[in-house]
Amino acid sequence: MTSAPRLVTEVGPHTAISLGTLWTAVTRAGGAVGFAADAPEQDIREAAEQAIEDVRAGGAQLFVLEDGDELVGAVFLRRGAKATTRHRADVVRLMVHPDLQGRGWGKALLDAVVAHATAIGLEQLLLSARGGTGLPDFYTKQGWTQVGLFPDALRIGDELRDEHWFQLRLS
Ligand SMILES: CC(C)(COP(=O)(O)OP(=O)(O)OC[C@H]1O[C@@H](n2cnc3c(N)ncnc32)[C@H](O)[C@@H]1OP(=O)(O)O)[C@@H](O)C(=O)NCCC(=O)NCCS
Repeated sequence: MTSAPRLVTEVGPHTAISLGTLWTAVTRAGGAVGFAADAPEQDIREAAEQAIEDVRAGGAQLFVLEDGDELVGAVFLRRGAKATTRHRADVVRLMVHPDLQGRGWGKALLDAVVAHATAIGLEQLLLSARGGTGLPDFYTKQGWTQVGLFPDALRIGDELRDEHWFQLRLS
């Protein structure tokens, strides 16, 4: 059974492996989280290890959905590191296991990140979404504003895709 989103306060040895498994499943199902659908699993697992290392080092925070010991959803919040960017954060790699998509879990994860960001005093959030997907509509529906579009900024296999940039101002 899937538990409500939570902020991970302690990263265990299994976290990177479980994230790699989730990330691979999401990628294979066509999810837009940094890889083409047929990307080598090893590359995805290495990215998962780096992402978790970043959390360990304090560069990002991780919010998860869990089913027992396994991650079934994840999203990262990466706060600006410089004096000029400390008031904002990037929301990256929002993903829900393909078997659970379309049941409100993605919205629940995003809501948890927004609530946390508001509570710690951030003023705005930024994210980018792959063009040619339903993602721009998803974020617009969640109240985000598209503030930019980089044409052909992403190469996904043989195709070039636009990158849509979104902002959410927090009150
Ligand atoms: C994008 C993603 C996180 C959304 O999570 P989800 O659990 O499937 O979405 P939810 O069930 O919470 O949907 C919330 C609302 O957004 C809508 N929505 C969800 N995915 C959508 C899509 N691709 N296009 C348009 N609308 C979408 C739903 O219909 C729902 O609308 P409603 O509130 O009117 O019913 C999930 O589909 C996913 O993991 N996709 C693969 C990974 C990915 O591409 N991540 C994007 C990183 S930028």
